[in-house]
Amino acid sequence: MFGGPALSAAAGFRPTRTHAQNSARPPLSVPPELRVDAGGAILLEAQPGSMRFQGGPATSTYGINGPYLGPALRLRRGQKAVVKVHNGIPQAITMHWHGLIIPGAVDGGPHQGILPGNRWSAELSIDQPSATLWFHPHIYPMTAELVIKGLAGLLIIDDDEADRLPLPSRWGVDDLPLIIQDRRFTSDGQLFERFNIVAVTNGYIGDRVLVNGAHFPETRTARGWLRLRILNGSNARSYALTASDGRSLFVIASDGGLLDGPVELKQLLVHAAERFEVLVDARSGTAFDLMTLPVGPDIMQLPPFDRPLPLLTIRPDGVDGNGKLPDRLATLPTLPENIPPVSQELVMNMFREKEGMMALDKTGLMAKGKNGGTDPAVISRVVDLIVNGPALSQPDQLSANGVNGRPFALGEAGFAASRDQLLRWRIAEGSDRMLHPVHIHGCQFRIISQDGRPPEPQRAGWKDVAPISAGGASEILVRFPHSAGGDAPYMAHCHILEHEDSGMMAQFTISC
Ligand code: C2O
Ligand code: CU
Ligand code: CU
Repeated sequence: MFGGPALSAAAGFRPTRTHAQNSARPPLSVPPELRVDAGGAILLEAQPGSMRFQGGPATSTYGINGPYLGPALRLRRGQKAVVKVHNGIPQAITMHWHGLIIPGAVDGGPHQGILPGNRWSAELSIDQPSATLWFHPHIYPMTAELVIKGLAGLLIIDDDEADRLPLPSRWGVDDLPLIIQDRRFTSDGQLFERFNIVAVTNGYIGDRVLVNGAHFPETRTARGWLRLRILNGSNARSYALTASDGRSLFVIASDGGLLDGPVELKQLLVHAAERFEVLVDARSGTAFDLMTLPVGPDIMQLPPFDRPLPLLTIRPDGVDGNGKLPDRLATLPTLPENIPPVSQELVMNMFREKEGMMALDKTGLMAKGKNGGTDPAVISRVVDLIVNGPALSQPDQLSANGVNGRPFALGEAGFAASRDQLLRWRIAEGSDRMLHPVHIHGCQFRIISQDGRPPEPQRAGWKDVAPISAGGASEILVRFPHSAGGDAPYMAHCHILEHEDSGMMAQFTISC
């Protein structure tokens, strides 16, 4: 079902026109950096907001220290920070630090709910390499809804090793954070979200892409090497990113930090929750678009995703850049020769997938996929199913998906793993042939094999998301340096947030 990198249009697509100045384009907004204050604290306020995403009616949103999305927290290896979260929205939340290697007690998982009007503080001791991480709520089963409404932000770790490299690092000038999210709006301009059969099987299906909260923005940057810190902050969608003029993307970092050397690609597939840092050569000053090519199952290739779609225009005609592309980046620990036997298996299950497929099949979408056509009648039936398909009852939602044969149950003890040991885990896809970007808390791991082969070079470094697809499996090597008790366990789950919120999550404890 998941078509893999089905980059049909990749071979011969032509550079798109970058739009002329006269078409009013929103500017790319750059989230403000937020460091600890004099008292070592960072204050985060989840708050209701309102946005005009498309010039039309105001959209009700949630944001962190602002109306939509949040600041970019900037922490340094070796630092301690007390993050104080105040919940100013009328729903319970948690705040999870995705990718941060910290004890379960401060991880912000589903057991650490913050009721409306309440506060939660987490003392974070930063001890991991420079990386682009992120944060978002993790309350069960409402993570998808809260992220759709805008609760997410970047968390950037700095360290001396990365500082010694000549990488572009002027925030918003040649170092650009890009949070990519697909969204759909209702006829009265509100953010669409609904838990129906399409959502529990395929996840959220937007019909436009926002970059840092704006639809197809443009930005002026330095003329020189640019660093794009890409977060796929979408609930479900994967992107196949490429530059409109075919210039190379040099991947320098994956989820958990720098690679050992740059990986030059023409297309970069980024799954939900993954991050990649990419360097692009913009020394010529020529404008280009960052685009996504058609990718994923048929339902993810509805217009406008049926052809190369520009997401952002970059005009590198500002100040001179001073960053460079180094040949060597970081020294990753070599994988040990004696790999321990598999100590934990995690199989992603979908219990209502047939029902979802049947509903989709009736729209004629599968037939459409085969002829490569885009029959408007089919498209409108699929969109009707996405938008109007009846919401599931909560029991139906919570039993739709699972891990190792069972839907998530907040009150049940999970499995246990040992602390500070090198562990080999096997993460597998059940029998549904869908893509599941599987994320594990409390660690950064290395993928040692992907369907029996070595990982792609851009996924061979530190990762916290392992994409599993089409009945395949990945093996990872992981170590959990901290503890997580039964009252604050870690989570392992599919990061398609609609899968997570319908049972595709397991919890686990770490003890000595
Ligand atoms: Cu980004 Cu368990 O989450
Ligand atoms: Cu996480
Ligand atoms: Cu999934």
